[in-house]
Amino acid sequence: MTPAQIEIYPDRPALVARSLELVQECIKTAVAERGKCAIALAGGSTPKPLYEGLAKLDLPWANLHIFWGDERYVPVDHPDSNAGMAKAVWLDLVPIPPTQIHIMPTHFEQPEDAASAYETLLKDVLGYQPTFDIVLLGMGDDGHTLSLFPHTEAVTVSDRLVTVGNKDGEPRITLTAPVVNQSRCVLFLVSGSNKQPALKAVFSADADDLAFPSRTIRPEGELWWLLDAAAGAAVKTLPNVREI
Ligand code: 6PG
Repeated sequence: MTPAQIEIYPDRPALVARSLELVQECIKTAVAERGKCAIALAGGSTPKPLYEGLAKLDLPWANLHIFWGDERYVPVDHPDSNAGMAKAVWLDLVPIPPTQIHIMPTHFEQPEDAASAYETLLKDVLGYQPTFDIVLLGMGDDGHTLSLFPHTEAVTVSDRLVTVGNKDGEPRITLTAPVVNQSRCVLFLVSGSNKQPALKAVFSADADDLAFPSRTIRPEGELWWLLDAAAGAAVKTLPNVREI
């Protein structure tokens, strides 16, 4: 496992600018080496300006495959849809072939069937052991990431690539930690002072993974934590943290 790169930026625009650079580099490398780039998108609010920025770039759109890390169990046109957000500010504005935009299904009666269907799709498109080139992640102020919420079953699932998350009884579809951990590059974007206590626990030596699921993300490839100063204030004295 490569040690995490933890960088603190003065504010959210600086954090977004850095994430744009890193995503562009990863896309260029993936397309040059493998002819395509598989990206799993984060939901929530923090990545939205990154997606808006990507929409303005000249990228090899025909070589991109877009997936999601997790999804709320709502239709794409619902205001809470992660896919709906990314489509509106980025994906509908650029010529990525529609067959290469892989939205998590939310129309099945049973969310378990949706999770299985997405697992099958991942294997069809990326092979039996799917390897994402980039996984974008956020972190909640409770330390959750994807839809791996504290003290829920999804956090410990190790025999599936996709499972059903549980947010206060609401079902979610989510990648599991093992599939994220076989990725080439994982990029956390974390902003806001409300995230300080969870970040402290995530970076501590002895906190509980089940209580702070972001700790379960330990990829074989690169791991980046991009924080703004408001979030990073609680961890800026740690040895491997760089203030930019
Ligand atoms: C979701 C996300 C979730 C998100 C965090 C952080 O669907 O909600 O995938 O894991 O990344 O909740 O959300 P914010 O960026 O809005 O703080």
